[in-house]
Amino acid sequence: MTDQPIPAVAGADPVFSPALSAREGAAAAAGLFTEAFGGEPDGVWYAPGRVNVIGEHTDYNGGPALPIALPHRAHLALRRREDRTIRLVSSQTREAIDVLDLDAIGPKGTPGEVRHWNAYIAGVAWALEREGLGPLTGFDAALSSCVPLGGGLSSSAALESAPAVALDEVDGLGLAGGADDPDDAGRARLVTACVRAENEMAGAPTGGMDQSASLRCRAGHALALDCRTGEVEHVPFDLAAHGLRLLVIDTRARHSLVDGQYGARRTACERSARLLGVELLADVAPAELDAALARVAASGGADADALVRRTRHVVTEIERTRDLAALLGDGRRLTGEKLARVGALMNASHDSLREDYECTCPELDVAVDAARAAGAHGARMTGGGFGGSAIALVDDGAVDAVARTVLDAYAGRGFAAPAFLDAVPSAPAGRLSPGRRQ
Ligand code: GLA
Repeated sequence: MTDQPIPAVAGADPVFSPALSAREGAAAAAGLFTEAFGGEPDGVWYAPGRVNVIGEHTDYNGGPALPIALPHRAHLALRRREDRTIRLVSSQTREAIDVLDLDAIGPKGTPGEVRHWNAYIAGVAWALEREGLGPLTGFDAALSSCVPLGGGLSSSAALESAPAVALDEVDGLGLAGGADDPDDAGRARLVTACVRAENEMAGAPTGGMDQSASLRCRAGHALALDCRTGEVEHVPFDLAAHGLRLLVIDTRARHSLVDGQYGARRTACERSARLLGVELLADVAPAELDAALARVAASGGADADALVRRTRHVVTEIERTRDLAALLGDGRRLTGEKLARVGALMNASHDSLREDYECTCPELDVAVDAARAAGAHGARMTGGGFGGSAIALVDDGAVDAVARTVLDAYAGRGFAAPAFLDAVPSAPAGRLSPGRRQ
C-alpha cells in the first residue's frame, strides 16, 4: 500500500490503486503469517471496503443507505490458538508482532484499550463474546489490505469483517454461511459485533452501514439497506452491462471518524430529533419537513440554523436514497432518462452534504465539480466526508478523460494528486479457497 501524496501536475497520467486478486491477497497474507509465526494459517479470509452510492449520514438516523462492496479487500491469514492470546502482524508493521490477551483487552479509555488497527481486529473477538457468541479462543493473524487507509472507503470495517468471518469459521459460530450461499441473518449478527468493536473498542461513533456493506453486499448489486430494521434488498447494479463505471477519486485529504467532527454531526441530529419529539430523524416524513424545520428554527437556540440544515439534509437524503434504490430496482436498463435521474440524485446528495451537512472539503468539491464538468452522469462525496473519497458515475469510455480533468483541476488548485479506484460492485466478506478464483 503506498499512501504518500503525489504532487499534482497538470497533464499527468491518473494513477489507479489496483485491487489485489484473491491469489495475490492470499499469498501476501499467508506469506506474512508464515514469516511472523511459522507454519501455515488455518485459512485466509477477506473482507471488502465499500463505497456508498447514496444515503450519507442516514444510517445513524434510522434511514436507508445504498452501498456496494469494493474489489479492494483486507486479507487476513488466521490460525486458531488453544489459549486466549491474540498475536497480530500487518504488512505495514511487519517487524512488530502485537501480543494481546483476550481476557485483558477492553474499550477505548479503559486500561484494556487496544491501540491502532489492532483495536478493530482484536475488538471483534471481544465484541463477539460480549454479544453472547463466545467463548472464543485466541488466534494468530497476519493482515494485508489494499483498501486505502483513511480514504473514506471503510478500511476499518474491512478490518472488522475479515476476522468476523474467520472467527465465525474457526470457532464454529456458524453464522456467515458459505461463499456461494451466504447466511444473511447470521451475517447481520456479525455486523452487530463489528459495529460494537468500532464504537466501543476504537471509539468511532459510526452507524453500521460500512460493516453491513462489507458483510452483506452481493457482486453486481447495491445493498438497499434499511439501517433501522437491518432489512436488506439486493438491487441490480451491474455497471459493466450498461457500459458504465463508478470511478472513485481518493482525494488523499485524510479523514478520521474519531476526530470529533463526525460525532458532532451525529449529536446535532440527536438534538434535532429530541426537539421534534421523534426517536430518529427518519421519523420525519418528507411532507412534514417544512413544519419540522420551522419548529427546530424556533426552539434550537444559538445553533438553530445549523440544526435546521443538518435536519434538512437527513430528511431529503432519505428520500433521495429511496428514489435511487427504487430506480435501480425497477427492472429497466440503466440508460437514458433513468441514468440522468440517477446522476441527478447523486449530484443533489453532494450539494446537500456541502451546503447543509457541511461535511465536504475543498478537495471533495473540486473533484466533484471537475468530474461533472468532464461529463460524469453524477458525482458526489461518499462516506463520512471531511476528506476521503468522491465517486463519479461515468461512461466506460470517459473514465480517463474524467480522471485527467480531476487531476488538472487539482494541479490548478495546488492539491496533491488524488488516486483513482475502479468501484466494481463486488462480493462480501468470505473465505479464500486455495486455488480458486473468487
Ligand atoms: C462513515 C460511517 C458510517 C456512515 C457514513 C456516512 O462511513 O462509518 O456509519 O455514517 O460515514 O454516511
